[in-house]
Amino acid sequence: MNESGFQLAMHQASLYEGQSAVFMAPSANLMVDAMDLQRGDQVLDLACGTGLVARAARRVVGTDGRVVGADLNPAMLAVANSIEPEIEWLQAPADRLPLDDEAFTHVACQQGFQFFPHASAAAAEAFRVLRPHGRLVATVWATPGHNPYIETQLAILAELDATVAESARTATPVKADEMMVGVASDAGFTEINVSLLEHTVEVADVEAFFLSQTASTPWAPVIAMFTADELQILAGMFAARLKAPGAASGGYLLRFASHMLIARKEPFDELS
Ligand SMILES: C[S@@+](CC[C@H](N)C(=O)[O-])C[C@H]1O[C@@H](n2cnc3c(N)ncnc32)[C@H](O)[C@@H]1O
Repeated sequence: MNESGFQLAMHQASLYEGQSAVFMAPSANLMVDAMDLQRGDQVLDLACGTGLVARAARRVVGTDGRVVGADLNPAMLAVANSIEPEIEWLQAPADRLPLDDEAFTHVACQQGFQFFPHASAAAAEAFRVLRPHGRLVATVWATPGHNPYIETQLAILAELDATVAESARTATPVKADEMMVGVASDAGFTEINVSLLEHTVEVADVEAFFLSQTASTPWAPVIAMFTADELQILAGMFAARLKAPGAASGGYLLRFASHMLIARKEPFDELS
């Protein structure tokens, strides 16, 4: 049986908010811009993790609106709740949401669909909980070639531990755009559009960032077995293989790109 991916322990989830958020928070903000939210809207952040999208959405919809963050992972939800307890956090699998039909104007899902064991069922649940005319906005990394930081990290760790190779394929699937279009279309969504959501992050010390950010991922145990000296060698190998331009300040410019799907739930009576 397939299992849900990207499951973190409590200490990893706390680090996720400080480390992976360096590049996940900017894309959460861009995603929320693309959702075209209005004050008072109702938003479900599916596979919300520590709530980066939910918090950005709440800043727009305000207290007149409603934001719910749903995730399978209790550690992620505990961190989310400690940051913004005013948001409703819900522990639930994406393919079985304990939420009413037609409760939301928008469903957002940043880097979640590749980890769902039943992506089609998750898309069907997103369709069910959306109001007529509601929108699904979902991202999955665009690979290969668009995300040098993530791809280099996973390639190096996969050489050290074969299990990382498998979870790397899950985290960065090829043709994620086709997968998302397929499940959205099967679920009944229309006006399906996929574009590239891109951003760049400047990191001052890419070796230190590699080590600390990896600790906030499911593959943290791979680097936990090394001594401090060995980790420095590993980080040096990573920096040597990373193809990223230097910043004027002396740091690195890291590019990230995701396929972003936007789809609409058209009321049945408007379908010809
Ligand atoms: C890479 S994290 C992204 C988290 C968050 N969306 C963000 O932007 O930071 C992937 C998330 O998917 C969640 N997840 C994986 N499988 C799931 C499932 N079947 N149902 C709900 N959440 C799931 C994980 O627990 C994790 O929080």
